[in-house]
Amino acid sequence: MNVDFADRVKNLPPYLFKEIDRLKAELQAKGVDVINLGVGDPDLPTPSHIIERLKTAAEDPANHQYPLYSGMNAFRDAVARWYKRRFQVDLDPATQVLTLIGSKEGIAHLPLAFINPGDTALVPSPAYPVYQVAVMFAGGTSHLMPLLKENHFLPDLDAIPEETARRAKLLFINYPNNPTGAVADAAFFEKVVAFAKKYQIIVCHDAAYSEMAFDGYRPMSFLEVPGALDVGIEFHSLSKTYNMTGWRIGFAVGNAQIISGLAQIKSNVDSGVFNAVQLAGVEALDGDQRCVQEMQAIYQERRDILIEGLRRAGLEVQPPKATFYVWCPTPKGLSSTDFTAKLLKEAGIVTTPGSGFGAPGEGYVRMALTVDKARLREAVDRILKLRW
Ligand SMILES: Cc1ncc(COP(=O)(O)O)c(C=O)c1O
Repeated sequence: MNVDFADRVKNLPPYLFKEIDRLKAELQAKGVDVINLGVGDPDLPTPSHIIERLKTAAEDPANHQYPLYSGMNAFRDAVARWYKRRFQVDLDPATQVLTLIGSKEGIAHLPLAFINPGDTALVPSPAYPVYQVAVMFAGGTSHLMPLLKENHFLPDLDAIPEETARRAKLLFINYPNNPTGAVADAAFFEKVVAFAKKYQIIVCHDAAYSEMAFDGYRPMSFLEVPGALDVGIEFHSLSKTYNMTGWRIGFAVGNAQIISGLAQIKSNVDSGVFNAVQLAGVEALDGDQRCVQEMQAIYQERRDILIEGLRRAGLEVQPPKATFYVWCPTPKGLSSTDFTAKLLKEAGIVTTPGSGFGAPGEGYVRMALTVDKARLREAVDRILKLRW
């Protein structure tokens, strides 16, 4: 039989890590000791008190049946408490909080609730690839907003043509930002709210890295800004905060109507998160937060080792205030893919080309701080031996 894929599959961009994975496997087969700074997946374990809660919850037969589509009340209550403590924002757990199978799942499903075929969404570039693909899956078109150094890697809303702004239904933003490591302040979020109100656009703020921040900096929630609850929702994740990427739990919070749209899509697609994982999530959010401070201290130390080494190598790199990504400019004359290939072939270091996150990411590579200090020092030693 001739299997014909749907256009939405045929139109998928090439998988960002495919060529890198191939080269990495080739080098490893040759016995090269590869240092992987390519993937944004914490190398640290989930804190033990969260694992213990999962164990007891998994043994309780009450947790073995289908979960509630919108999430356990206990989890949504814990989210509202955490939000109040962390951001001083009041949320109604019944209508303004939704449990997700990781924030990726919510982000991917959201356009299905609000984008009709032919509609436009405003999407940053470079960016986490899921925004653009999710819009395409819903039949929409993405208008790309370049994130440039001269704008502190914030989208320039004034540069969006009036006609496009009028057509747009959704606006994606993501701070602290993957891949640039940039952060946003209240003035930017206020501008976003005013823009969204003027053009009647739903704002989706992806705050997956809100807790991964350094030097005492505490990223704010989009919902702290007056009027944000009228126009938007925010995505959060337990993945990076508590080293739980494999557990698949996150949440969306914000405007009740937008949350209900996402919930309607979800109730027809998935059946929620295993209750035992949600109860472990309650433990994570309500429990001792020293593990979060420890996580921040570990990445901060790693960041400083890598930044110092890259600067010694002559690269003008800025230390990120948040996220475990270093957005490193390429040496003169080398494209993102050239530099990625050089690092891999001549130093055995896996990084991600900035252009893989969107054309405006050209001229950068992304390095993830997901290996320990000794390995980072080894990476620096190898980089210092390179010539360009
Ligand atoms: C910007 C951004 N948003 C969302 C996610 C998804 O995280 P999760 O689905 O694990 O919550 C990621 C994961 O890397 C990310 O980088």
